[in-house]
Amino acid sequence: MPVFDLGIQPLANDFCLEGEERQGYAPLKVMLCNDCGHAQLSVVVKPSILYSKYRYVTSPSLTMRHHFASLVSDMLKEGPAGSVVEIGSNDGLFLQYLSGHGFGNLVGIDPAINLAEIANSRQVHTVRDFFNADSARLAKDMVGKVDFIIARHVFCHIDDWQAFIRNVEILCDRDTVVCIEAPYGWDTLNRCEFDQVYHEHLSFLSVHAMSVLLKGTTLHIHNVLKYPVHGGAILIMLRQNGSKEPPKTDADVWKNDRFTLLNWVDFADEARVRIDDLRTFVNARVEEKKIVVGYGASAKSTVWINACGFTRKHIRYICDETPQKLSTFSPGSDIPIVQPEVLARERPDFAILWAWNFAEEIIAKEKAFRQAGGEWVIPVPELKII
Ligand code: TYD
Repeated sequence: MPVFDLGIQPLANDFCLEGEERQGYAPLKVMLCNDCGHAQLSVVVKPSILYSKYRYVTSPSLTMRHHFASLVSDMLKEGPAGSVVEIGSNDGLFLQYLSGHGFGNLVGIDPAINLAEIANSRQVHTVRDFFNADSARLAKDMVGKVDFIIARHVFCHIDDWQAFIRNVEILCDRDTVVCIEAPYGWDTLNRCEFDQVYHEHLSFLSVHAMSVLLKGTTLHIHNVLKYPVHGGAILIMLRQNGSKEPPKTDADVWKNDRFTLLNWVDFADEARVRIDDLRTFVNARVEEKKIVVGYGASAKSTVWINACGFTRKHIRYICDETPQKLSTFSPGSDIPIVQPEVLARERPDFAILWAWNFAEEIIAKEKAFRQAGGEWVIPVPELKII
């Protein structure tokens, strides 16, 4: 049944240069399964539309480096640094990090042709394809025995979970550790991160849903860990049923983390309040002739801007340091994306931090903005002006 509906929305990462053709719009609605409590979108946009020319690149920020360090330390508790296949390796940043930390024999799988050059320059071997049986076999042939399979923030982008697990099984040896990191559905709900709902995020992961999925496969949940990145992430480690390593978590512990209708109704009500709050705030500032801008041309920014109905009249520009996003225009609103230097130069009154998951780092980096009298508007978990 439908539990959260944002209407017809542009694709959140469809940042386009002047004159470049937009990928279009699609319904953005979350459905909940009454039987297993799984939540997923009602419509799947073709992956070839979403990912072939992908402007999302893994953040090279300090926050992300700290996260990589925690992740690697947790991987090393499972076994020595070894061979790795990364599913959805993007521009190869994480594999490059691993190669600097003792891991060798690394292969990525990612379809984004425009990111291939960056991965190459990092000497990261990448199978340029979606994750399917063919690319899994090719990666397996290249690596041989696979010690770790990593899938960072790609699982929620998959529409056919069963096929995903079958293809993971192709890569697995008896002691392979499968690390699936994804936004934790419960953090999305509890912190009302409705801006995590966009066409790339096809589902909202719970450990319960993962345990249901794994029934009848050769894999089981070995461990579950949580991290603060991206508003709250979960790492579900899987191992083969024949593995010598005993599980570090008990699936029974997680049986109550199944979503109910009420959880989603509360979330939807709260999201409407949050959208109204930001819209009202920005409208009032614009009436007062204040200059409001955005910081972080994240997918989340697209969700907020279109949910609030903002245009260039409300938000003058959005600052973002990603070279691939520079000089593009925000999907659905055509708000220009500019370099962060513009913030220091133009000194707007308010900057909405749409990269709120990097708040600490960005606010520290952009000290001059506040010193010049600018105020940050933090929209998540609730509207805060600092
Ligand atoms: P992110 O939260 O990674 O992604 P999503 O698209 O999944 O919502 O996006 C953060 C954006 O903020 C990204 O486009 C990079 C940008 N950014 C900066 O411009 N400066 C910074 O210092 C950091 C950390 C991010």
